[in-house]
Amino acid sequence: MKKKIVFATNNKHKLEEISQIVGDHFEILSLKDIQCEDEIPETADTFEGNALQKAAYIHEKYGMDCFADDSGLEVEALNNAPGVFSARYSGGGSEKNMDKLLDELKDKSSRRAQFRTVIALILEDEVSYFEGIVKGEILESRHGSEGFGYDPLFRPDGYSETFAEMDSAQKNKISHRGKATQLLIQYLNSRI
Ligand code: IMP
Repeated sequence: MKKKIVFATNNKHKLEEISQIVGDHFEILSLKDIQCEDEIPETADTFEGNALQKAAYIHEKYGMDCFADDSGLEVEALNNAPGVFSARYSGGGSEKNMDKLLDELKDKSSRRAQFRTVIALILEDEVSYFEGIVKGEILESRHGSEGFGYDPLFRPDGYSETFAEMDSAQKNKISHRGKATQLLIQYLNSRI
């Protein structure tokens, strides 16, 4: 029988990405699947804190095994900003976020950056964390139209394309979220 685990997110991109990686052993339920329409608080100042806050909310309210993730872009020359503020960096959505990032990096010599994901899992009342990192460069202009967020500006090390020029299967293999999810799945498999 498939094991049911709630993924505490409403983000369709993430549900699709994770469902592609998860395979057949687990049934991932979304917040919609469990009829949760709450605005889940996300007020910590670290990825770990936010991920745990979301997973704990669902675990406490519904008593189900649950995981949640928090991710963002960390740019070396900006002291790891935007970090946990990645979604709200400019206050105006992805296009404005990218404009602000390009502007902030105008006079910087380094354009090194990384995407980082932390997943917090609560399984049988035990908390575990899984981290995924992908390092790369912020380009000077947008390339590609796939993906979301900062994808058109981020070129992972070892590739000539940005995340927005890759299809989702290719991105999943190397992305921060893909790596964290692989670790989560390995762990879940070890617990079957
Ligand atoms: P979240 O915690 O995964 O929702 O990510 C927060 C924000 O980080 C997103 O709204 C994006 O701005 C940025 N981000 C996280 N992952 C990615 C990605 O894979 N590509 C582009 N932007 C991302």
